[in-house]
Amino acid sequence: MKVFVTRTIPTPGLDLLRKEFAITINRTNRTLTKEELIKGIKGKDGLLCLLTDPIDREVIYAEPNLRMIASYAVGYDNIDISAATERGIPVSNTPGVLTETTAELAWALLFSVARRIVEGDTFTRKGKFKGWSPLLMLGQDVTNKTLGIIGAGRIGTAFALKSQGFDMKVLYTDDQRNDQLERELKAKKVPLSDLLKNSDFVSIHVPLTKATHHLIDENELHMMKKTAILINTARGPIINEIALVKALKQHWIFGAGLDVYEKEPKISKELKCLGNVVIQPHIGSGTIETRTKMALMAAENMSIGLKGGIPPNCVNKEVFLKRPTK
Ligand code: DGY
Repeated sequence: MKVFVTRTIPTPGLDLLRKEFAITINRTNRTLTKEELIKGIKGKDGLLCLLTDPIDREVIYAEPNLRMIASYAVGYDNIDISAATERGIPVSNTPGVLTETTAELAWALLFSVARRIVEGDTFTRKGKFKGWSPLLMLGQDVTNKTLGIIGAGRIGTAFALKSQGFDMKVLYTDDQRNDQLERELKAKKVPLSDLLKNSDFVSIHVPLTKATHHLIDENELHMMKKTAILINTARGPIINEIALVKALKQHWIFGAGLDVYEKEPKISKELKCLGNVVIQPHIGSGTIETRTKMALMAAENMSIGLKGGIPPNCVNKEVFLKRPTK
């Protein structure tokens, strides 16, 4: 069977695929265009893709042999799941293995903004540090503050649990109650508006869906404290970036730490010029260990899926209701 891999991923994942399948890898160090993607999957049984690949209806219907899509990411908002399900193609993702790593990056951003680490580094390197000064680069304390978690799923929970060393009060929003957070942190489930009004740090951990698109807009940014910091390691379009630029410029909030952008990889020029935002190149899961685990997980899902089994991380299990499984 033949598998198309849209970009080079860590070797252990590719080796696993090679043991069973004939694989073709996009060796260019860039995201393929839709036309190139369609060309790449010609005659292939499996597609191993990334979160940057637009796997829309046209791509899904382009190759009649296509029988399995394994994504090398936990978020799958780039894939038209209903089109894949309609065609009976299982789609898998990589949950769990990147939870702690992404939560760690959210904390790194939180501290970077609160203590102005990037600004301070630039300032010092430029030779502007002329000695200790009582009002130099003052930030925000973290200990004893209120942490607001938007989305208390796997990553939101891991992020919240890491607050334990800082004696923080934890608020969260979610469709469901999170017993672990309530038990271990005495966290409180509150409406989004209460969370925004009362939190010193707000961190986003919801997937991108129609319901979460622009969940944070002008109105929500206005609700936040002037001293608050907003962190986004989930998906860019959850925040209206134009509204965020306005909020940062006009100091409605203290700052923001971003790993993701509304029109990724494009980032608004204004955002790049602001000192009160720390920006990263979507590296939430970007450690050697985690990316290797993601590659292995995606390859395992591909292997099981192409052999007719239910991939362990299948996100559209309904496809198996329609056909007999091996
Ligand atoms: C994912 O897997 O969805 C993450 O955004 C990758 O870092």
